[in-house]
Amino acid sequence: MNGLIAPHGGTLIDRALTGAKRAQQQEIARRAKRVPLDAFALSDLELIANGAFSPLTGFMGQSDYLSVVEQMRMSDGTVWSLPITLPVDQALADSIQVGETVALVGEDGVIYGTLEVTEKYVPDKVQEARQVYRTSETEHPGVAKLFSRPGVYLAGPIWLIEKRENVEFAEFRFDPQETRFLFAEKGWQTIVGFQTRNPVHRAHEYIQKSAMEIVDGLFLNPLVGETKADDIPADVRMESYQVLLKHYYPTERVMLGVFPAAMRYAGPREAIFHAIVRKNFGCTHFIVGRDHAGVGDYYGTYEAQEIFRNFTPEELGIIPLHFEHSFYCTKCGSMASAKTCPHEKTDHLTLSGTKVRAKLRAGESLPVEFTRPEVAEVLIAGLREKEAVRER
Ligand code: ADX
Repeated sequence: MNGLIAPHGGTLIDRALTGAKRAQQQEIARRAKRVPLDAFALSDLELIANGAFSPLTGFMGQSDYLSVVEQMRMSDGTVWSLPITLPVDQALADSIQVGETVALVGEDGVIYGTLEVTEKYVPDKVQEARQVYRTSETEHPGVAKLFSRPGVYLAGPIWLIEKRENVEFAEFRFDPQETRFLFAEKGWQTIVGFQTRNPVHRAHEYIQKSAMEIVDGLFLNPLVGETKADDIPADVRMESYQVLLKHYYPTERVMLGVFPAAMRYAGPREAIFHAIVRKNFGCTHFIVGRDHAGVGDYYGTYEAQEIFRNFTPEELGIIPLHFEHSFYCTKCGSMASAKTCPHEKTDHLTLSGTKVRAKLRAGESLPVEFTRPEVAEVLIAGLREKEAVRER
């Protein structure tokens, strides 16, 4: 492994077929029953196949599923915090026999993979929601998504036989094997992973750079899979990251690569998941700041940090770097947090995500203490263009 961190479970999974094996599996798929994949399931399939979800080799069977939901561990004890499942409707499930291999078909009609069905089971989704999201309210976007998907889970090992063509951000898409190779090539031994579904504002920059002081490299790894409608679109964000890196980061110490997973908004549980997946990409450290992967008021500000206490450093493998809520302090004249700043709240500049999005959509620029001007410019122009397209 080039001296890099071991993947979760010890082996980097590779379920993407090539050559004769692929042709053979394609032939099986052509004659098999077709199971539809929504965008969420397709991204899960790809991330299982490329090893990002190591040690998973397929969609979870019932004993792993229940164990993950109840105890944040697979049935063999391996830490895993989110169920990775393939929901199908009852009629389709009834038509499929356990033992059968089915074709996994994207919304575009392409057969992306196969699943050898080892189990089909009906989950208790209310219990899943309560455990994973800590609520069963459908106002929670993760819970709404869970309840909107069909009611039977198919399980078993998968093979990927088709890679998506014309994917967005192709030049920033790296499989874990590639990121591992690239980190080693750069000579980085310690790498901090940064998850984000937002533009990088000054607070994000501050915690990234604080972390960069103690590691060799930063892997800026924005999530670009499905997100809720009012999050800033990934293409606009990608442009904003590039302009930020160009002007404010040492290029030889940062790598930008997308994380093509769906956002779950599962707060604490998703923080564990995000960390483990970044370990698979080769990161040794992972940033967890305020309300990581949170939404609304469902999670406490530091719950996504506290949850790490349930696991030993050995079983996690990756080191979480916890950061306090940070802000610009007008008295300090710098970015700071409660750990470093003695001044009053009224001296601190903070804006909620909702307020930021509203300002940007109105074409108002953000204070430089909050967002770099080059970034604000990209965001305003990007959102304006989206509005114009929508109105046309
Ligand atoms: S997330 O859903 O991907 O977690 P976001 O992109 O806002 O949302 O956050 C990315 C990372 O930065 C997370 O680890 C989050 O906890 C952290 N973070 C965001 N804002 C702040 C802040 N003001 N202070 C400290 N950490 C923050």
